[in-house]
Amino acid sequence: MCGIVGYVGFRNVADLLLEGLHRLEYRGYDSAGIAVLTEQGIEVRKRAGRVAELGGLIAAQPLIGHVGIGHTRWATHGEPNDINSHPHFGGNQQVAIVHNGVIENFDSLRKQLQQLGYVFRSQTDTEVAAHLIAHHLDEQIKLGGSADDLTTCLKAVNATLDRLKGTYGLGILFTELPETIIAARSGSPLVIGVGRDEYFLASDASPLIGYTKEVVYLSDHEVAVLRADGLQIEHRHTGNIRPSIQTLQQVSADIELGDYEHYMLKEIYEQPQTVENALRGRLDMEEATAVIGGLNLTPKELRKIDRIVLTACGTSWHSGLVGEHLLEEFARLPTEVEYASELRYRNPPISDRTLIFAITQSGETADTLAAMKECKRKGHPTLAICNVVGSTIAREADGGIYLHAGPEIGVASTKAFTSQVTVLTLLSLYFGRMRHMSFPAGRRIIRQLRDMPEKIQKTLECHDKVREVADRYYHFNNFLYLGRLHNFPVALEGALKLKEISYIHAEGYPAAEMKHGPIALVDQQTPSVFVIPRGGIYPKVMSNMEEIKARKGPVIAIACEGDRDVARVADEVIYVPDVEDYLQPLVCAIPLQLLAYHVALLRGCNVDRPRNLAKSVTVE
Ligand code: AGP
Ligand code: GLU
Repeated sequence: MCGIVGYVGFRNVADLLLEGLHRLEYRGYDSAGIAVLTEQGIEVRKRAGRVAELGGLIAAQPLIGHVGIGHTRWATHGEPNDINSHPHFGGNQQVAIVHNGVIENFDSLRKQLQQLGYVFRSQTDTEVAAHLIAHHLDEQIKLGGSADDLTTCLKAVNATLDRLKGTYGLGILFTELPETIIAARSGSPLVIGVGRDEYFLASDASPLIGYTKEVVYLSDHEVAVLRADGLQIEHRHTGNIRPSIQTLQQVSADIELGDYEHYMLKEIYEQPQTVENALRGRLDMEEATAVIGGLNLTPKELRKIDRIVLTACGTSWHSGLVGEHLLEEFARLPTEVEYASELRYRNPPISDRTLIFAITQSGETADTLAAMKECKRKGHPTLAICNVVGSTIAREADGGIYLHAGPEIGVASTKAFTSQVTVLTLLSLYFGRMRHMSFPAGRRIIRQLRDMPEKIQKTLECHDKVREVADRYYHFNNFLYLGRLHNFPVALEGALKLKEISYIHAEGYPAAEMKHGPIALVDQQTPSVFVIPRGGIYPKVMSNMEEIKARKGPVIAIACEGDRDVARVADEVIYVPDVEDYLQPLVCAIPLQLLAYHVALLRGCNVDRPRNLAKSVTVE
């Protein structure tokens, strides 16, 4: 959740760490801090609040050195204040650590350490790990080790890791151990950047961009030693391993704002391109099907599949709900969508003919990873629909499909949703054509998919209208979002966007289900946003809209171009291009993203970094 950054080499480490923390800030950001190995030992600067505030502190009290670690925190244990910020010292300042994750047995460890005389300054679970390393270092020294010896320090780290339960990505500095960072991972991502006479450590690749393209992804149970003259990685159970260096694809322009005011707006506007990227090379007109290369299952194995489980969280779960419609419609494959956080602890019957897909933008969501691992443990083929290349889920899956949407920085997911829906449409076409879908039907879908980037471009023309609507409605404190069939998940997604970034209470509901309860909420102060494009059960949704109007509820409608009937009933209409029912989520989601964006701006909220949220949720 948090960001970790570390560096050993020749550069001014404080500047480099600060820049890295700025780039990681989107992940979680209630406080930030750095520790640098200086001539005086380890020195720490840390602050609650934004990285910019830490920058001010460092400008006032500079740190000079070439080795250091930094952290942006997303608090799990202890409120976000200066003391609870990372890095944390252990023992008598022999060691300083940054930590991402949760130490689940921190309470019993803390009691044991307190009995041994360790004094805790913070309320964090992290400080337990810091003191424990210091304790084991002292034990090793008693056995003849030395504080400036790497083997001794590694033994202290490993003895500590043996006792930790939970998840961690750790960056560790020892006061006496010159020019070295030790890193360890279990359940929280860490990547090492390989430079010339320098190494970088980070929780995702963004701080490395512009410095190096060579990276090594650390796997669970690995411990790395970073020194300017070399990198050593050891698997805690199997012994030494040779680092496998991969090349980073990301280019720096992807993470720059350009002319946009916010990442969220930039990412909304990238959607014609990102949907095109998701389609690129995947449409086969000859065979009237989709080209899906990475499933790593033979056509024979795929033909045996008789059920699909999609598992995900948040926005990715919503795209899964759209996928359920598509897979059942096109391929007649019974599909279920499970919250990953539930699936990991549930024990649903899954036969050997079931195929599981984890859907995730970041590829690091702890619940999704755990659900996937649980399914893999039972021997089921588990695939991923993922955006971040090289992420933990992408690497652990048996195969899968990348979104190719480029980095999504805004905490509120936008382009990942439309890319996921596009990929799920391709998957449904692929499975459909393996089963009952005819050649002409396959071709028709391909033609319609090809048109989507242009239709999405056209959809963005609704922006001015959305801005006006936001202006008239931003002061309301409750919203309902209503849609049916393919557009019910769109309603859920619209409500989630509004909640996340404007802090307005919003509920997504199937439009007809509304009369079984939520209609009690409807009054002049509760606007309803209807997703009501033409098609399937349009007249039924119209009736639902009338029901709201009859109770004086203001109505904002997302409807197809030229639909005058909706305009007669709704107070506001935002028009989108007319597309087939199954493609409507790709256009209807866009005005809802823009609506949330403008409402949040008008309410003075931080659109890209909403309170309490983080981009990738790497804790349970
Ligand atoms: C979306 O706007 C959210 N910030 C959040 O719900 C997100 O979709 C969820 O945490 C899943 O993330 P993932 O796709 O990276 O796994
Ligand atoms: N559990 C740790 C804390 O609350 C780390 C949280 C994080 O991953 O940022 O300080």
